[in-house]
Amino acid sequence: MTDLRSRKWFDNPDNREMTALYLERYLNYGITREELQGNKPIIAIAQTGSDLSPCNRHHLELEKRVRDGIIAAGGVPMQVPVHPIQETGKRPTASLDRNLAYLSLVETLNGYPLDGVVLMIGCDKTTPALLMAAATVDIPAIALSVGPMLNGWFKGQRTGSGTIVWKAREMHAAGEIDNAGFMEIVASSTPSVGYCNTMGTATTMNSLAEALGMQLPGSAAIPAPYRQRGHISYQTGQRIVEMVHEDLKPSDIMTREAFENAIVVNSAIGGSTNAPIHLNGIARHLGIEVTPDDWQKLGHHVPLLVNLQPAGEYLGEDYFHAGGVPAVVGELMAAGLLPHPDAATVNGATMGGNCEGRRSELPDVIKTVAKPMLADAGFLNLKGNLFDSAIMKTSVISAEFRERYLSDPGDPEAFEGRAIVFDGPEDYNANIDEEALGIDENCILIMRGAGPIGYPGAAEVVNMRPPAYLIRKGVHSLPCIGDGRQSGTSGSPSILNASPEAAAGGGLALVQTGDRVRIDLRKGTADALVDPEEWEARREKLDASAYTPESQTPWQEIFRERVEPLSHGMTLRGADRYRQTARNLP
Ligand code: FES
Ligand code: MG
Repeated sequence: MTDLRSRKWFDNPDNREMTALYLERYLNYGITREELQGNKPIIAIAQTGSDLSPCNRHHLELEKRVRDGIIAAGGVPMQVPVHPIQETGKRPTASLDRNLAYLSLVETLNGYPLDGVVLMIGCDKTTPALLMAAATVDIPAIALSVGPMLNGWFKGQRTGSGTIVWKAREMHAAGEIDNAGFMEIVASSTPSVGYCNTMGTATTMNSLAEALGMQLPGSAAIPAPYRQRGHISYQTGQRIVEMVHEDLKPSDIMTREAFENAIVVNSAIGGSTNAPIHLNGIARHLGIEVTPDDWQKLGHHVPLLVNLQPAGEYLGEDYFHAGGVPAVVGELMAAGLLPHPDAATVNGATMGGNCEGRRSELPDVIKTVAKPMLADAGFLNLKGNLFDSAIMKTSVISAEFRERYLSDPGDPEAFEGRAIVFDGPEDYNANIDEEALGIDENCILIMRGAGPIGYPGAAEVVNMRPPAYLIRKGVHSLPCIGDGRQSGTSGSPSILNASPEAAAGGGLALVQTGDRVRIDLRKGTADALVDPEEWEARREKLDASAYTPESQTPWQEIFRERVEPLSHGMTLRGADRYRQTARNLP
């Protein structure tokens, strides 16, 4: 048994007066001295559920089972409210608040009498925010996913969160449905409590939290309303108490090896393009450097196994019945594709030990490596005069496009197009259907001013639909490039997360409507074909502050001053200097 950190507050013989002060006030809600001074681990439940955060709201119920598990194992639960981050409700972006929730949870876990923490994860940014905080503080931590919603259905077809919105907006632009029809079809994708039922950023990040070793095996995929979700909540509560006694910390689990495993799993599940931003960010807080190049090097050759929307057809319940993350890892292991089976996990066993022999139970939902959905399904990391790094999700490129530009063993072509540049989503929304722009199927749409500084937090706007007049002619997508992000629920093969962004003086700030842009996927390049002298002349005239509108809140201003590019995980400059803060308690 280790010395409990919380004893420095509640049972400190060297500091009688402070002990009495701490103790008397915590007693006042009915908790007893026996609980606070009985050498029982005090376990924070980092609660992200609230009325403002519907994706995670079911955690208010699950918390009861977590508490039961903590008490049964001899611990004392204490709820810690986390700053809300609701992906779809927060303006201007939810990702602006990832670092705010991180900062506030670090202060809370570091500054109060807490020995371990259950991270109540779910909606997109809640997972990285909580893992980042656990990484910095480094007290024993275990994550508990709230679980995905049940499958959505409309007229006999699965309707998936987010993905149905992108489809419905095309149907609307083509005049196939009216406003009421639009609402009805979109609302059908939300049948129960839980987070997005597609392989969007939520399912991705919850799966990766398990692949990193931070959740009990099999935990991520259990749908929110299923009874097994209650069972795993209880077991998670029990396990964190043992982890405190074992002093099993985030830095013991989230090692370089664990991140490499997670990158491979991300390719196999067809994970969101937000995953590199968040994983690179979490890693920085552990002093581990994970770069966009690592994603291509470790992840690109891995096949897509999971047949979930947007890359495939199924949804969260199907993923669970097919075996979830352990089945994906088991399939990868059977083919020798999991780089580090020896990586540690929260249950005390290794990743390989937990998943050995686990195979897909629904071969149409989780495929085998021998018969995958797609080979070489991981991200590409492109570079050129437009940016130093931008990610492309190849698992959603059409077969025809892939054949022509990426996989033809002979000599795949580069593709070229005429740039149509939009300064932020408002400009795009106001002008995309403007026929005078003359957009045709040989154009490349460019979104700038949508990065971490420009649209604070980086907006999910790079997946731009073509003009309505092109959709009516049967052109359903155009290549898109941008310094913003895109929703993990979008099946658009955009080139996104471009860093540095326009507001930081990146190349996207220099490109103009009408420029030719050339993209060579095999070489990994993306360039504006502009004469170098002309390009430099534009750079000299550039006023990047034009891409930074005025901040509306103090936090936006602080965020903009300190944020690092998407390629570096959008963390706060300097925050990664602080590590293992819980050990440094004076
Ligand atoms: Fe919260 Fe998708 S909007 S999980
Ligand atoms: Mg999102």
